[in-house]
Amino acid sequence: MKNTFLCRMWFILLLFTLFLTPVANSQSLKENPALDEQVRKFLNENSRRWYDMNVPEVDGKLLYDIIIKNNYKSALEIGTSTGHSGIWIAWALSKTGGKLITIEIDEGRHRQAVENFKKAGLSEYIDARLADAHQLVKELKGPFDFIFSDADKEWYKNYFIELDPKLKVGGCFTAHNVYDYGSGGRGSRGGFRSGQQEFLEYVRSLPNYETTVDNRGGGVSISYKKSSR
Ligand SMILES: C[S@@+](CC[C@H](N)C(=O)[O-])C[C@H]1O[C@@H](n2cnc3c(N)ncnc32)[C@H](O)[C@@H]1O
Repeated sequence: MKNTFLCRMWFILLLFTLFLTPVANSQSLKENPALDEQVRKFLNENSRRWYDMNVPEVDGKLLYDIIIKNNYKSALEIGTSTGHSGIWIAWALSKTGGKLITIEIDEGRHRQAVENFKKAGLSEYIDARLADAHQLVKELKGPFDFIFSDADKEWYKNYFIELDPKLKVGGCFTAHNVYDYGSGGRGSRGGFRSGQQEFLEYVRSLPNYETTVDNRGGGVSISYKKSSR
């Protein structure tokens, strides 16, 4: 009798988790069909024009999905370039009610990114800074719940160490051009360890982070912060 009751309760809980949680999550997302159309149009028209070391579309979509799935609101990007990844990140934030700070050191690329953000209709969700991230990352207070590192690879580990205390528990640190050792050992030649590889080894050594690598595009490491230490 008691077992049947427990079974029923367990079944109801399972139904709730399977059906109601996604509904609750999607309901908390802000709908803006006109903005969606503007962003899609901009991305379609420019899909073959990302020449400035920009992420491929599959990686942009990956960052978008991570933000939506976790309802992240406070994002930081290191390495704006002309804004392709920034557009995917900010598009997701326009739905969660968040904002992106993105940092670029090159004035020409920064200006182009600002123009692209405007054309995509996403300017209000982006604070684009023209600065050296080595310095600015130290000054930013955070806290952040989503970080995308895509600037100077040899500094990846330093960026992570600086930002770890500013990343919320439950937050996610992602980095681009990070390859898994298991997928052919890219990034390690003749005993030389690339900045990305050094970073990956470091973050994987931390017990409070859970890290996977998505190899479908340019290689994205995804590190979830499970606890403060
Ligand atoms: C790979 S690109 C970024 C691509 C961009 N995330 C996208 O997908 O559109 C790297 C950018 O980082 C910038 N960068 C390199 N070192 C930097 C630094 N110390 N501070 C800020 N930006 C830096 C470069 O100028 C370059 O535009």
